[in-house]
Amino acid sequence: MAEHFIIVGGGQSAAQAAVTLRQKKFDGRITIVGEEPHLPYQRPPLSKRYLAKKLEPERLSIRPGRFYAEADVDLKLGVRAVELDLDNKRVRLGDESELVYDGLLLATGSRVRELDVPGHDLDGIYYLRTRDDADAISAHLGPGKRLVIVGGGYIGLEVASVAVSLGAEVVVLEATQRVMSRVVCPEVSAYYDRRHRDAGVELHYGASVAAFHGHDSVDAVEIDSGESYPCDLVVAGIGISPRVELAAKGGLAVDNGIVVDDFALTEIESVFAAGDCTSHPSAHAGRHIRLESVQNAVEQARTAASVFLGQRLPYAEVPWFWSDQYDIKLQIAGLSGDHDSVVMRGDPDSGRFAACYLRGGLLSAVDAINSPRDFIGGKKLIEARSRVDASRLANPSVNLAELV
Ligand code: APR
Repeated sequence: MAEHFIIVGGGQSAAQAAVTLRQKKFDGRITIVGEEPHLPYQRPPLSKRYLAKKLEPERLSIRPGRFYAEADVDLKLGVRAVELDLDNKRVRLGDESELVYDGLLLATGSRVRELDVPGHDLDGIYYLRTRDDADAISAHLGPGKRLVIVGGGYIGLEVASVAVSLGAEVVVLEATQRVMSRVVCPEVSAYYDRRHRDAGVELHYGASVAAFHGHDSVDAVEIDSGESYPCDLVVAGIGISPRVELAAKGGLAVDNGIVVDDFALTEIESVFAAGDCTSHPSAHAGRHIRLESVQNAVEQARTAASVFLGQRLPYAEVPWFWSDQYDIKLQIAGLSGDHDSVVMRGDPDSGRFAACYLRGGLLSAVDAINSPRDFIGGKKLIEARSRVDASRLANPSVNLAELV
C-alpha cells in the first residue's frame, strides 16, 4: 500500500512540506489537517499590506487551491487533530475519524499570549494571528478611530503604522523601556520610536495594562500607574507561545517547543516537527532555540520532507526576519542577544543604516534598516564565521560581503 504522510497544521510549514514531498517525487498519500477553514496562507502580510487592504485575500494563499488538487494533497480544513497514538501511528481528529501515518509532521505553530486583566473579555479587544483576526481588526480601523495598541513589538508597531496610514489616532503602550527590545539594540529602538512619533503615534513606556474599561465594548485602557487611555478598539501584540499540547499529550518531549534535532526529527522515528512550535539545536546560538519566523518554518519543513524521503540534510540556515513599518524595511540576519558589543554602520538620520552585533570577535547578527546590501553581506559574514575588524564594520562604504 502507498505510504501516507500526515501533516498536522495548515500554515507555512504544512504547505512547504507538501510541496517538497511532491517536488522530491514522493508518490504516496499526503494529508494536511488544518484547524482554520482557509487554504494555507502567509501570515506576515496580515499586520502589513493585508491589514492596509492593499493585498487581495487570494494573494495571501501560499499556493492556489488547484495546486493541492493537482498534487493530490488531501486538505482536511476546519478540523483539528486531537490525539496522537505514536505506538500505533495514528492521529485522531476532532470529527472522531482516525488516520494512520507512515510519516507525521507536527506543524502546529503558535498562539497569541493573552492579557488576563479585569475587562479582558470586553468586545473590541483584538489579537492578531489569523486571517480572521486581521479581517476583524481592519473592519474597525479608519479615520478618527482611537486605537490603543498593547505591546511595542513586531505586531504592535506594524499595526500602528498601518492604522496611522488609515487615519486612526494611535497610542502604543509598551511594558519595557523601548520598542522591539526583544530583538534589536537601543539605537535601533530609538530610531523606530522617532519615526513613529513623527507619524503621529503616541508611545508610552513602562506601561503595563492594569484593566480594560467599558460596558459591552472597551472604551478605555488603564495602566499600572493609574493613567487611562480612551479608545474605540484595542489591539494587543504581547508575544506568542508554541502550540505543543498535542505533542506533549502524545508523549513527545517538549521544552519551550516540541524538541527536535537538526533533521527536524523528534525522538520518535518518522515523527517530525517544524516551525514556530519547535525547539531545535542551533549552531549559531550554540544551544536549543525556538524561532518565530517564516524562514524557519519553510526550512524545517523542507528538511523534514527530505529526511522522510531518505535525504539526511541537516537544517543549519542562519535565521532571518523582517518587518515593514511606514517606508522602513527592517531586515535582521542572525541572532543578537548574547552579543558583547554593537557597531553602528551609517547614520540613522539618513534613513539607511545597520547595527552589527559582535560576539567574541565574530558577527552574530545584523539589523539592516533600508539597507538590503548590509543584510545580504551581513548574512554571508555570519555564515562564514570569519573574524571581523570593528573599524571596517563601522565604515558603510566597505561592503560587508567583502569582509568574508
Ligand atoms: N503590556 C505591554 N506590553 C507588553 C506586555 C504587557 N502586558 N507584555 C509584553 N509586552 C511587550 C513586550 O515587551 C514586547 O515589546 O509586547 C511586545 C511583544 O513583542 P514581540 O515579542 O515581538 O511579539 P509580537 O509583536 O506579539 O509578535 C509575535 O508575530 O510578527 C510575528 O513572528 C512574529 O515573533 C513575532 C510574533
